[in-house]
Amino acid sequence: MTSRLLLVLTLWAGCLSPSGGQGTPEAVSQLRVQCRASRYPVAVDCSWTLSPTSNATGPTSFIATYRLGVAAPGDSRPCLQPAPEAPRCSVPEVRLFSMVPHVLNVTVLRPGGTACRLLPFVPERLIKPDPPAGVHLSHVSRQRWQVQWQPPRSWPFPEVFSLKYWIRYKRCGASRFHQVGPIEATTFTLRSVRPHARYVIQVSAQDLTDYGEPSDWSLPAATPMTLGK
Ligand SMILES: *[C@@H]1O[C@H](CO)[C@@H](O)[C@H](O)[C@H]1NC(C)=O
Ligand SMILES: *[C@@H]1O[C@H](CO)[C@@H](O)[C@H](O)[C@H]1NC(C)=O
Repeated sequence: MTSRLLLVLTLWAGCLSPSGGQGTPEAVSQLRVQCRASRYPVAVDCSWTLSPTSNATGPTSFIATYRLGVAAPGDSRPCLQPAPEAPRCSVPEVRLFSMVPHVLNVTVLRPGGTACRLLPFVPERLIKPDPPAGVHLSHVSRQRWQVQWQPPRSWPFPEVFSLKYWIRYKRCGASRFHQVGPIEATTFTLRSVRPHARYVIQVSAQDLTDYGEPSDWSLPAATPMTLGK
């Protein structure tokens, strides 16, 4: 409770209130920051946008740093940017299952002045894998197809941080998908398919222990037109 209050106070004092002519609430509200952990636990990837309504003239660059909780700003480490002008960075080391949030500090530097935005985050809550890779179908028998896929290639340790999967499929032209899951296997058998009908199938991945959110659906894989002929 107390540390939560401290965090809120730090966030408030750190960026929202102008101090020494630095930053204005308007400038801060024009900076939108978001983070995602699609390659948990290797890194958390963050990006931001500056609203085009802000009167930017001249070059804009950013300083991105992070720290754990409300530690003194001196304990900040760089959030790795490909270039100072790039509106994105990667937090290269995250503390897993930390009781206190990490805090990302994005500072905009431009001729008119500077502004910063602090974003507290818990890496586990930002988990959103990329869609599963290599989704494909193979014919088993007249009425059966087997769907197979692999964990997303960006997910570094599928043996340690297991994923579960959702499958959805429908007959082409049908309005609704049937959804199956979650399952831990990377294969699923589609039964009782209608001969001569064409089916589309998509797969989504999610952290096995329900952290974060499921991936987007994979691109649709489809049974061939000639099915059953
Ligand atoms: C955010 O980062 C900027 C630039 O490194 C620094 O001047 C500022 O003090 C930081 N703010 C907080 C609240 O850590
Ligand atoms: C941005 O520019 C417009 C017109 O050039 C001006 O009316 C407005 O006050 C400026 N806004 C800020 C925040 O400086």
